[in-house]
Amino acid sequence: MDWLEFAVQWLHVLFAVFWFGGSMYVTFVLMPTMQRIPPASAREVGRAIMPRMAMAMRIAGAVVIVLGIVRGIGWGPRNAAGTGFDFASTYGITWSVSILLALAIFAIGDGIVGRTARRLYGDDGLWAFATAGGLPPARFAALAGRLRTAGLAQLVLFVVALTCMILMRFGF
Ligand code: HEM
Repeated sequence: MDWLEFAVQWLHVLFAVFWFGGSMYVTFVLMPTMQRIPPASAREVGRAIMPRMAMAMRIAGAVVIVLGIVRGIGWGPRNAAGTGFDFASTYGITWSVSILLALAIFAIGDGIVGRTARRLYGDDGLWAFATAGGLPPARFAALAGRLRTAGLAQLVLFVVALTCMILMRFGF
């Protein structure tokens, strides 16, 4: 057994579990819970979690992508000349698609989810209703909706990326 390959794959899967799992936790546990607690508390929790969450997801995503590239190029199928990774093989194509999927997931997470969450939780004006009562402003609903949609889009892409991982495991 190649222990370096083992270590690279082990770390790749560990960080992938954190990245994908963190995203599922936010979508299916954290966000629905935030909608059920008083808005002022939800805002405090949101403001406290977001910077740490953004950094953790950024690091996890970057490690997954880098180690996925190393794993494929280092131990994936060789080309006919034996000079390196066979990008044109089915495995090579699945691997390339995986990079695109992971970059899209990263961009949605860091760009749309991160930025929208910072706007939502950072703007005092959007949270006046939390103390004054009444309904949240239209912009609040728009930002919350964008967070939900982007989170779900990420999850769909994660599922497709995971399918690519299993395909490569079986040689495709
Ligand atoms: C997007 C999130 C990702 C997740 C959740 C993920 C998850 C996983 C998992 C669970 C495995 C183990 C599969 C198995 O042994 O059955 C794996 C393997 C692997 N991943 Fe990823 N991965 C992701 C992204 C990437 C990216 C971006 C690349 C590189 C382009 C990549 C390249 C690989 C390679 C080459 C393997 C080994 C496949 C094999 O030959 O058995 N992964 N990944």
